[in-house]
Amino acid sequence: MALVVLISGRGSNMRALVEAELPVSAVISNLADAQGLDFAAQRGIPTRVVEHRAFPAREDFDRALAAEIDRFSPRLIALAGFMRVLTAPFVARFEGRLVNIHPSLLPAFPGLHTHERALAAGVKVHGCTVHFVTAELDAGPIIVQAAVPVRPADTASALAARVLEQEHVIYPRAAKWFLDGKLAVAGNAVHVKGGDAQLVIPGAA
Ligand code: GRF
Repeated sequence: MALVVLISGRGSNMRALVEAELPVSAVISNLADAQGLDFAAQRGIPTRVVEHRAFPAREDFDRALAAEIDRFSPRLIALAGFMRVLTAPFVARFEGRLVNIHPSLLPAFPGLHTHERALAAGVKVHGCTVHFVTAELDAGPIIVQAAVPVRPADTASALAARVLEQEHVIYPRAAKWFLDGKLAVAGNAVHVKGGDAQLVIPGAA
């Protein structure tokens, strides 16, 4: 099977992957009430919950999560708003086929509250990044980015909405490249065979 998606909440990026007709074989959440699970179930996609709270230590949760993922034998594991920091053994087990979407132009603003921090920093361009996951948080090889302007009157939520729209563009694109065997990684640089654009600037020709 092809793709397992991990979520913790709304699941709009997971939905974008499904709607792009990517072969999502399961959606797994660490929270039973993650909204996205309903959408997946309605689409007939198997859903699973591995509650992080049920495990005494991060390592135990990660082991249980990995076991659940392995049941679907995915080629690609996509973190989509999955709000848990993963341990090094988990990342090592799936390295090279574990990807994440992050709501900033990495390496700027790793971690949480990216839109608030972008506004506070006064940057004029912001965006989102799909990257391979490595043991360092929000730091792996970058597959694709989309840039969006920061407008003078922006609030964090207005900026988040503008970025989210682009997340839904670049995540399916990156997943498809991976599944089509088009990604070549050399050190920290990722290239797409065929030369598809790895930078999206909405509105640019
Ligand atoms: C997205 O902004 C994603 O980049 C971040 O968390 C948010 C999740 O949104 N990691 P959704 O659950 O995909 O709607």
